[in-house]
Amino acid sequence: MRPVEHQTPGPPPPPTASYEADPEHVHRVLLLYSGGLDTSVMLKWIQERYGAEVSCLAVNLGQPGEDFQAIRDKALQLGARDCQVVDAREEFAREYVARAIRANGLYGGGYPLFTALGRPLIAKLAVQRAREAGCETIAHGCTGKGNDQVRIEATVATLAPELKLLAPVRSWQMGREEEIAYAREHGIPLKGGNEAVPYSIDDNLWGRSSEGRWIEDLEHPPEDDVFGLVTRPEDAPHEGERVVIEFERGLPVALDGERLELVPLIGRLAELGARHGVGLVDHIEDRIVGLKVRDIYEAPAATIVLGAHQELERLVCTIHQNQFKPELDRHWAYLVYAGLWWEPLRADLDAYMEQVNERVSGTIGVKLYKGRAQVITRSSANAVYDASLASFGPSGGLFSQAAAPGFIELFSLQSRLAWQLRNR
Ligand code: ARG
Repeated sequence: MRPVEHQTPGPPPPPTASYEADPEHVHRVLLLYSGGLDTSVMLKWIQERYGAEVSCLAVNLGQPGEDFQAIRDKALQLGARDCQVVDAREEFAREYVARAIRANGLYGGGYPLFTALGRPLIAKLAVQRAREAGCETIAHGCTGKGNDQVRIEATVATLAPELKLLAPVRSWQMGREEEIAYAREHGIPLKGGNEAVPYSIDDNLWGRSSEGRWIEDLEHPPEDDVFGLVTRPEDAPHEGERVVIEFERGLPVALDGERLELVPLIGRLAELGARHGVGLVDHIEDRIVGLKVRDIYEAPAATIVLGAHQELERLVCTIHQNQFKPELDRHWAYLVYAGLWWEPLRADLDAYMEQVNERVSGTIGVKLYKGRAQVITRSSANAVYDASLASFGPSGGLFSQAAAPGFIELFSLQSRLAWQLRNR
């Protein structure tokens, strides 16, 4: 038998990317801190390994039930020089989620992008804080297999070429067991004990994702304990519930006639949807880094808002706009998913989204019932819809039924000729 190799890592490998921190030059670090196991171990590890001073930043994007005071206390207890908590809910809703709504932001047909939308903002705030606190390095807790490292590092490298990045989880040789042992040794309080490996959770006001454990077994149906937000549809109330959402220029502004700012409005819809089992997604996804992965998403507010927005857009846009915009929507979602928030094409597309959404005002009624959010009413002064023309009544006004055969003859002409050629 070969002797068990000693765990102390050898000299760190040289950096691959120009923005990666050189271990010799890590002195003042801004750590994106969540209070969880990875970033808590990182907080101690960076101090120990580099003799560096660590400032922490925790960002509030509306993670349900998060105690930011406790996160701050924990950071200070673990030796952080300081820990700033930024309430970025407003900015997140206004500058990120609002754009996603106008772009019907959905990746892979099911993922409403909440994590992907949050990362560029978190990284932008990290850049601001690092500069303010005099840090030359930003550290984060992403692994080397996910999308979040791409989003965070692409943002920092774009906005602050002078800053360096450190991603210890990507390079240290610790598995979960070793991290827990390290935490014990260093007096890092462990949250839920260490019995089973927990799900990897990320959430904000637009949704919640779970990865890991049985979710990686594609044949395994969802286990109930994964749901942290949404009621199982089977357990949802037997009575459905209706909500009328008013939109102005593509954004929701009122619920059942009550005007609300975007953050509380989303909160209200999240609660309503969660109660009725709305917004559960079991999703196979193509990550940017090449892997396929399965995610369990809970996104009640996004499901309701995006469904209603899309319906209103369909109503006020022409057939040509309705054919074209989904293609741009898909491209927008891909850029955002891929962490290219600062790419000019994203802003170009946003300009188009805003232009189209100038007319997306009106109300959509949605019925929530046992996992479904179904549109049941619509109304808009901008609807390209004329009930008198649509009815089964006689010709008149702008629509001549007598003209229909002539239209059909010309409209089908090329297809008919091609058919003849192929079937002669
Ligand atoms: N698959 C989603 C994405 O790439 C969710 C990622 C969740 N992140 C996490 N660190 N657990 O955006």
